[in-house]
Amino acid sequence: MLRGQFITFEGGEGAGKSTQIARLAEYLRSCGVDVVTTREPGGSPGAEAVRHVLLSGAAEALGPEAEAILFSAARADHVAETIEPALAAGKWVLCDRFIDSTRVYQGESGVEPALLEKLEDVAVGRLSPDLTVIVDIPPRLGLKRIAGRDSASGGAEKDRFERENLDVHANRRARFLEIARSEPERCVVVDGSRKPEQVAAAIIEIVEGRLGPIADSVVRTDGRAGK
Ligand code: TYD
Repeated sequence: MLRGQFITFEGGEGAGKSTQIARLAEYLRSCGVDVVTTREPGGSPGAEAVRHVLLSGAAEALGPEAEAILFSAARADHVAETIEPALAAGKWVLCDRFIDSTRVYQGESGVEPALLEKLEDVAVGRLSPDLTVIVDIPPRLGLKRIAGRDSASGGAEKDRFERENLDVHANRRARFLEIARSEPERCVVVDGSRKPEQVAAAIIEIVEGRLGPIADSVVRTDGRAGK
């Protein structure tokens, strides 16, 4: 059986990743691809348990290193319990945030690159996304979108990482773009400030361009690939 493709989505707050993941999943399913969508922190029962500790800010007092360790522990469980089994079964996995979020967010919080590298190694081993879509938007726009979302949902509380000031958001954006520059074979930057349908069309084009015609990757029930 063909191994599935692993696509991660990264970007700052309010970039529209979850909307784009849903749209790409819908498109891929219409092509006959078996798709699993998942997110971090979380995506497996063990990792979901850690998610609340991280996003509520309960772990903040432990310091950025401890937070990095918790994100990585959650990721190790997510990889072992959800991502690897799905890929091995020929499914495509679309994941909302992955290693680059730790590099960017915990890096920006001051965690040493050497520790981040070690943690990444422990959490994901040799697994690397086949494609990483970085949805890029100016932080001001992203924060405005979040504010709109929060008032629409009755003023939901911002999470630990959304509460930071504009400079921090701008630095994270610069870090994401730096990763894209240093790993062009894995990463592609998409302008997320456009209309959702325009962003979705751009992402489909990228996926087709980078990973080849989707139909060739479809695992059919008779075990043969493609049409
Ligand atoms: P989430 O509610 O999933 O929001 P988003 O739509 O922004 O993805 O929140 C996840 C938050 O956790 C987000 O602010 C980024 C942060 N985060 C890290 O700091 N490090 C990580 O490794 C991951 C996966 C997320």
